[in-house]
Amino acid sequence: METKVNLRRNFLAFGATAAVAAIAALTAGSALAQAVYPSRPISLVVPFAAGGPTDVVARTLGQFMSKTLGQPVVVENKLGAGGTVAANYVSKAAPDGYTLLIHHNGMATSTALYRKLPYNPLTDFEYISQAVDVPMTLLARKDFPANNFQEFAAYVKSHQATMNLGNAGLGAVSQLCGMMLERSMGVKLTSVPFSGTAPAMNALLGGQIDILCDQTTQTIPQIKGGGVKFYGVTTRNRIKALPDAPTLSEQGLKDFEVIVWHGIYAPKGTPKAVVDKVNAAVRAALKEPDVLKRMAELGAEIAPDSKLSPEGLQTWLKAEIDRWGPIIKAGGTYAD
Ligand code: MLT
Repeated sequence: METKVNLRRNFLAFGATAAVAAIAALTAGSALAQAVYPSRPISLVVPFAAGGPTDVVARTLGQFMSKTLGQPVVVENKLGAGGTVAANYVSKAAPDGYTLLIHHNGMATSTALYRKLPYNPLTDFEYISQAVDVPMTLLARKDFPANNFQEFAAYVKSHQATMNLGNAGLGAVSQLCGMMLERSMGVKLTSVPFSGTAPAMNALLGGQIDILCDQTTQTIPQIKGGGVKFYGVTTRNRIKALPDAPTLSEQGLKDFEVIVWHGIYAPKGTPKAVVDKVNAAVRAALKEPDVLKRMAELGAEIAPDSKLSPEGLQTWLKAEIDRWGPIIKAGGTYAD
């Protein structure tokens, strides 16, 4: 009897020691993994088509983040459902710092646009940093019969039943800008969704769509090259990259303002040490002269320091969800 009890006690003691040793080994393993992070290439997931505005920002940042991190940052385009396919994918990836997401305002607007979003932007991610703020521009196909915004507004009002507006799906900023435009002008156009504004721009250049509201990171070369008609910028004030271009607000769309902000996210549970390393790499990339030059040429502004911390991104995202939710809900646009 005595021997049986002793055996049981010894067995339990051994079990407890083994469990403590296993936890210690795991903790040490995880600490080691964090210390050597990154030891292989990092995937930066872009929710829209290659060659488009988000992709341009991601590839520029990724190239220079690699310098600090010592490993390639490889852009992976995961398309679909206005960016929500990519966000869902990253929310369920291993929280080890090797799968990151870059996303824009869609991270906030999707919460109102989708009734059944399969992830929660406020609880399923670690926040790394914001990066750049990008104005949008209102464009039409080259042969559109309007040479300034007043003519554009008059033509759209009288031909709205037969006109279409390209965008990158529900959750894209092109869709958000188009929705704001329709509301401000009191018109309803046919929406034509693409997997990103890169293919939407091709359709505009080919004359298959009439109108596109898109980011300067893609549109400035087209505007300067004369391949499209251009009616104004979506910022409150004129922008340095297109100094002669009027704002939509000054041309009659009172208070019209859409600015695209970009955040970088990791799956929830990614260790803080890893988040901090990626944050440092983003900050370093945003100081690189080549990045500053390229972003300035494309009309993008480096986000202010207050937005470059994990807390800055989290606070901003929450505020954007609160800002856009009621506006979107009032419009009655949503998907399941
Ligand atoms: C893109 O990269 O294609 C755009 O950011 C899509 C959009 O949101 O309009």
